[in-house]
Amino acid sequence: PSILVINGPNLNLLGTREPDVYGTATLDDVVRLASDAARRGGCAATAMQSNHEGEIIDAIHAARETSDAIVINAGAFTHTSIAIRDALAGVALPVVEVHISNVHRREDFRRHSYISGVADAVIVGAGIDGYRLAVDHLARGLTGS
Ligand code: DQA
Repeated sequence: PSILVINGPNLNLLGTREPDVYGTATLDDVVRLASDAARRGGCAATAMQSNHEGEIIDAIHAARETSDAIVINAGAFTHTSIAIRDALAGVALPVVEVHISNVHRREDFRRHSYISGVADAVIVGAGIDGYRLAVDHLARGLTGS
């Protein structure tokens, strides 16, 4: 089974972006951590990052052919994008939503997620370890272990 890990806008800056909020690990570190977790769970992980809403929607559509589950950190699109929500609902794959920071301990505008209503699980505030937790959870569901 294959798990697609989607990272949205500004997550390419991980490591240097607001390190007090997001830590010092890079996006490459995140991808490596997710791939290792997938392999341990008997799955494979592929990853994409985009700063463009439409590209994320296209990746979600393409996942119908290539992937069995999705981990998504949609960045700020989390709080704005009905279109990404509809794409996730449309492809009907298992979805885990991840946020590195605890969005509930920050500005009020981060407390609402359009994604959560179509996600099977939501992991916030666990740092980049959230991606591992998400992959572990999905891999267990996909392999029946
Ligand atoms: C984030 C939280 C969002 O509010 C923010 O816009 C991000 C990152 C997180 O991982 O904590 O870009 O999704």
